[in-house]
Amino acid sequence: PFIYFVARKKLNSKWLKRSVWLLILGGSQGLMGWYMVQSGLVDVPHVNPYRLTAHLMLAFTIFAFCVWYAADLTKFNSQSEPRKQELSKWLKILFGVVVVQVVWGALVAGLDAGHVYNTFPKMYQYWVPPEIMALEPWYQNFTENSSTVQFIHRSLAALIGLMAIGYWVRLFTVPSSNSAKLWGGIIFVLVLVQYALGVFTLISHVQITLAVMHQFVALLLVGAILVGIYSIRENRAQTIL
Ligand code: HEM
Repeated sequence: PFIYFVARKKLNSKWLKRSVWLLILGGSQGLMGWYMVQSGLVDVPHVNPYRLTAHLMLAFTIFAFCVWYAADLTKFNSQSEPRKQELSKWLKILFGVVVVQVVWGALVAGLDAGHVYNTFPKMYQYWVPPEIMALEPWYQNFTENSSTVQFIHRSLAALIGLMAIGYWVRLFTVPSSNSAKLWGGIIFVLVLVQYALGVFTLISHVQITLAVMHQFVALLLVGAILVGIYSIRENRAQTIL
């Protein structure tokens, strides 16, 4: 499509730059995938967790840019948003926490940390696993200790759940536009679904269909938060030419 649109001179300089940027990101993901697969997958389906995380983050980044650009081409309702700054600030914070959560989700997957502590809400009889600081140096625990990585993923999920509830309640206690309510509602439902999928993935010892759905809904959630942020900005609908 890129070649077609360039050949037909359908892209102005802004959209040409954006398309090239997507092309670069897509190409980098090819390289990143190759670099990741190089670290394993020859005889055993296992790759370096850091490379897996980088590959997943790049995939989410490409998706995020596509969603943002698509939103930029869509005519959103130009309803005025009475608490634009406040709502947008909360959504941006939620977005940041979700991005961090995606990183630790990838580490859970990369370390096979979904195969330890397959109970919920407690991790067996513990709220906090005893070996949480077992590795030396201490900071390795955050990314290389399966129990700690799973604990962080669970804790961030709880935080995201609370933030989504808080945002939802706030939307209905202060005046806000229908569009903000709609996207707030979608985000709220996606967080609930994602939370439940995470729990079922864990207690099923990472049943593959559940794990894939958990990954997919994370993507939908990131997209919904971005559209939510976009929809409470000024109406900046534009044409491609
Ligand atoms: C609510 C927000 C959550 C988000 C945005 C989120 C996101 C993610 C992401 C992006 C992955 C990586 C998927 C992959 O690369 O295969 C992941 C993996 C995982 N998550 Fe979550 N998660 C959330 C909540 C939870 C909860 C509440 C639990 C369980 C208590 C959980 C358990 C897991 C497990 C076990 C994996 C590893 C799956 C595998 O090995 O393929 N997640 N999560």
